[in-house]
Amino acid sequence: MGMKMRAAILTSSDSGYAGQREDLSGPVIREILERNGYEVVHTVLLPDDRKMLAAEMARIADEGVAELLLTTGGTGFSPRDCMPEATADIIERAVPGIPEAIRAYSMTITPRAMLSRASAGIRKSTLIVNLPGSPKAVRESLEYMTPALRHGLEILTGEAANCAR
Ligand code: MTE
Repeated sequence: MGMKMRAAILTSSDSGYAGQREDLSGPVIREILERNGYEVVHTVLLPDDRKMLAAEMARIADEGVAELLLTTGGTGFSPRDCMPEATADIIERAVPGIPEAIRAYSMTITPRAMLSRASAGIRKSTLIVNLPGSPKAVRESLEYMTPALRHGLEILTGEAANCAR
């Protein structure tokens, strides 16, 4: 049914970028997306650098690389965590409901969910959603949001005209 949505995955991790830590969360996102019928067309690992993260997110949207861009990491309180700020730098329209819903659901799992500063928004025809950094949090958040995601992407790309069904 419908066209296959393309997805990109951006991991923000200083230690991952330096080769000191394996990126475990990026592969979890890929697995869940592919199981849900998405084609993962691009994965990238960058340091916790606001300018670099913002530039890569803008490029993915502006070049039409993917309809969905999921990020992992950089949403906590560490001094270098800057994914929500990088996201705010480049989105054209905010989508607060997705991180609100993920936090509300995640609060039923751990009170630490309130510590996620994750954000989401739209630039051109790409939906960008920040996910937390740990593979556990990524899995819980993404499994929860996927049922509603497809409809939003269909509206965004003009595949669906309205919310009638
Ligand atoms: N959300 C879910 N569903 N499950 C979790 O285990 N961990 C929280 C939160 N959200 C968590 C979660 C924790 S401990 C933190 S610090 C924030 O996400 C930010 O995560 P990050 O610093 O890895 O980006």
